[in-house]
Amino acid sequence: MREGAVVLITGASSGFGEAAARLLAARGAKVFGTSRRAAPGETRDGFTMLPLDVRSDASAAACVDEVVRRAGRIDVLVNNAGYALAGAVEETAIDEAKAQFETNFFGTARMMRAVLPIMRAQGGGRIVNVSSLAGLVGVPFHAYYSATKFAIEGLSEGLRQEVRRFGIHVSMIEPGDFKTAGTAARERAAAGLDAYAATRDRAIDIMARSEQSGPDPIGFARLLLRILEAPRPRLRYRLGNDAVWVPRARRLIPESLFEWLMRNNYEMNE
Ligand SMILES: NC(=O)c1ccc[n+]([C@@H]2O[C@H](COP(=O)([O-])OP(=O)(O)OC[C@H]3O[C@@H](n4cnc5c(N)ncnc54)[C@H](OP(=O)(O)O)[C@@H]3O)[C@@H](O)[C@H]2O)c1
Repeated sequence: MREGAVVLITGASSGFGEAAARLLAARGAKVFGTSRRAAPGETRDGFTMLPLDVRSDASAAACVDEVVRRAGRIDVLVNNAGYALAGAVEETAIDEAKAQFETNFFGTARMMRAVLPIMRAQGGGRIVNVSSLAGLVGVPFHAYYSATKFAIEGLSEGLRQEVRRFGIHVSMIEPGDFKTAGTAARERAAAGLDAYAATRDRAIDIMARSEQSGPDPIGFARLLLRILEAPRPRLRYRLGNDAVWVPRARRLIPESLFEWLMRNNYEMNE
């Protein structure tokens, strides 16, 4: 990554985004992080915070305009902002599912539409979208969250081919369970059904414990730096032992065994 590269990271108030903003700023990048609650231009740990709600076209455009006004260009966009919606599919209202897509999927699409004209005019840039292990494997009681991340996989893979000739590289990071503020920010479908209650609560608890005993998000920041320094970055980067081994195991063992192991992991086999 060249000294002074201009990097915009969505969702930098905590977790992966904050760790990445800190590390890249320490390595000489001009970093802009975002939060829905940021005061414009507030600085922390060597980077500048800007307000952004990725659910709004106007907010996305204003944030990107502000980066260009302050720094004159955008070399890197990291689409990291997101949250997890938990609950059985039958328990989840369509409006809750739409809200999950509005942030995780359309938020990513919105930010890319705002930066692509700038990157094309510059003759290049890099986009890194944060997917998930849940974007490779459908996770019970997080099926809509998984669906948003599967959708990011398809969007990123298609876009990568479209913009290659403009010198724009598109990659994804697919993390497993990491210790971040995302566990506390998890939303739950409002209308619970008794038929799912015990299994759902147990599965969500197991996931939350796995996150909170998971690795520190600094690993995300180091991987992002490696991607930004790669001359020809790959499409997919798995992050964490679970993100490496679960998809690998899926290819090696029969599907029925893989599904049994998934249910077993979430104590759904009783
Ligand atoms: N932690 C994990 O185990 C894990 C695993 C795989 C993938 N991921 C993905 O990693 C990304 C970061 O999550 P994290 O674990 O670091 O969680 P986090 O600490 O809760 O960070 C989420 C960030 O997203 C921002 N955000 C949420 N809704 C937003 C909106 N509508 N507009 C703009 N910003 C918004 C939050 O900022 P404000 O609330 O300040 O606006 C916050 O900075 C997410 O895409 C998540 O799906 C996490």
